[in-house]
Amino acid sequence: MALWGGRFAGGPDPLFQQLNDSLPFDYRLALQDIEGSMGWAKAIHRAGVLTSEELSRLLGALEDLRREVVEDASAPLKDQSAKSTSSGSPPAVHDEDVHSWVERRLIAMVGQLGKKLHTGRSRNDQVATDLRLWTRAAIDARLAEIAASRRALVAFAQANQSVIIPGYTHLQRAQPVLLAHWAMAYFDMLGRDAARLADARVRVNVCPLGSGALAGTAYQVDRAQLAKDLGFASHSTNSLDAVSDRDFVIETLAALSTLAMHLSRMGEDLILYGSGEFAFFDYDDAFSSGSSLMPQKKNPDAAELLRGKSGRVIGSLTSLLVTLKGLPLAYNKDLQEDKEPLFDAMHQSSLCLRAAARILEGTRVRVDVARKAAQGGYSNATDLADYLVARGVPFRDAHDQVGLAVRAAIEQSMPLEGMPLAELQKHCPAVQADVFSALSLEAGLAKRTIPGGTGPESVRAALAAAAKAVGLA
Ligand code: ARG
Repeated sequence: MALWGGRFAGGPDPLFQQLNDSLPFDYRLALQDIEGSMGWAKAIHRAGVLTSEELSRLLGALEDLRREVVEDASAPLKDQSAKSTSSGSPPAVHDEDVHSWVERRLIAMVGQLGKKLHTGRSRNDQVATDLRLWTRAAIDARLAEIAASRRALVAFAQANQSVIIPGYTHLQRAQPVLLAHWAMAYFDMLGRDAARLADARVRVNVCPLGSGALAGTAYQVDRAQLAKDLGFASHSTNSLDAVSDRDFVIETLAALSTLAMHLSRMGEDLILYGSGEFAFFDYDDAFSSGSSLMPQKKNPDAAELLRGKSGRVIGSLTSLLVTLKGLPLAYNKDLQEDKEPLFDAMHQSSLCLRAAARILEGTRVRVDVARKAAQGGYSNATDLADYLVARGVPFRDAHDQVGLAVRAAIEQSMPLEGMPLAELQKHCPAVQADVFSALSLEAGLAKRTIPGGTGPESVRAALAAAAKAVGLA
C-alpha cells in the first residue's frame, strides 16, 4: 500500500520502486513498528483523538498482527509475493516499507478505524522510534553474547592455568607469559567493548516519537508517558534532531567495529598459534575445514572469519558516516540507508561472538610444544639482565653484557642457560652459580607478580576477579 498517493496523478515507475522500497530489509522492524504503534495509539487516545473503544480495537488488531510476526518474522515479505500473479505483472499487493505493511494490514483488520492511527505521526518519527527500539534490543542481545564469550575465555584460562607460551613483540619471541594471561587480555578487551555498547545504549534509549515529520506533532501528546510506555528512559528534546540524526547507530557501529577488531586480533592469534610452525594449539574439527585438493589440510576457517568479518563491520560504520555527512536538516531519504549496515553488523557480530566462544571451547593446547617455544628465542635474556641489576650492574651495562652473551650463545647454538658458567662470566662478570635458577621459565614468570603482570599470582587474582565478574565463581 502506498501511504501518499493523493497528490500523484500517475503511479510510480517499477524501477523507482526497486530503488525506493525498503520492505526487503526493514521488514525486520515489524515487531518494533507494531510496538511503537501500540504506544502511539495509547498516546493519541490520551490526547482525545481515539475513544477508549477505538483504542482497544486498534490494540487488539495490533496484538494479532504482533502474534503473526512472532510466528513468522518474514510475514511482511510473504504477504507481497502471495498476492503476485504468475504472468510477471507487478504484485497486486505492494508495500514500500514496513510502516506501509503494518498500516495496510491494520486497515484490512479494523477498516476505517485503522486509518486513524497515523494521526499526528510521521514515518519520520516512526522509523526513528522503530530503529531505536530495534537497536536497544540488539545491543542487549550482543551484551549477553559478549558475556558468554568472556565466560569462555575465563574457562579457557582456568583449564590452562599453568601453561606457558612465548609472549611476542614484533612477532618475535620476547618474554614468556602464561596462556591464561593471553586469554585474560582478550577478556579485558571484550569487557571494554561491552561497556562501550552499554554506554551507546544510554543514548539509543531516547524516544523520538511525537516529533512528527520534523516540527513536532500538533496533538497534545504526553511525550513523557509515551516514552515510558515504550520503555525509553526519556524523550528527545528537539524534533529536527530526533528525526534526522542517526548518531545512535554510529556509536553502536563504532562499538561493534572495535569489538570486531578485537575478535579479529584474537582470530589472528588463534591462526598463528595453531599453524604447523607454532603448533601450540590444535583446532577443533567442528570449526575447521579441509582442502578440496590437499588431503592433509585442516584449515582454521572459523578463526580466519573472525578476522575477515571485521572488515565488513568496520565498512558498515564507514558507510553510515559517509551517508550522514552533508545531509541538510531534517529527514532525507538517504537515511533509509542506515538500516542494512546496522542489521548486517549486528548479525555478523553475533555470529563472531558465538563462534569465538565455541572455537575456544574446542581448542586443545599442546603444553610441551608451547613450553619449548617459550624456552627458546632467548626470551629469558631480560631475566639475566635483571639478575645482573640485582648484583649492582647498572641496567644499561647489564643490557650490553647480556647482548654479548646472547650473541655468543647463538654462535654456539645453545640457550643462555646451556652455557658453561665460565663462558657466561666472560660476558657478564657479575654472574654466579645461582644464575641458572634465575633463568628458568618459572623464575622469570614468578618475578612478574605486579598487578597486571603475567606472574602466576597476579594471573590467579585476575582470573578470580574475572570469574566473579562473569558469574563463574
Ligand atoms: N522507509 C523509510 C526509511 O527507512 C521510512 C521513512 C520514510 N519517510 C519519508 N518521509 N518518506 O527511512
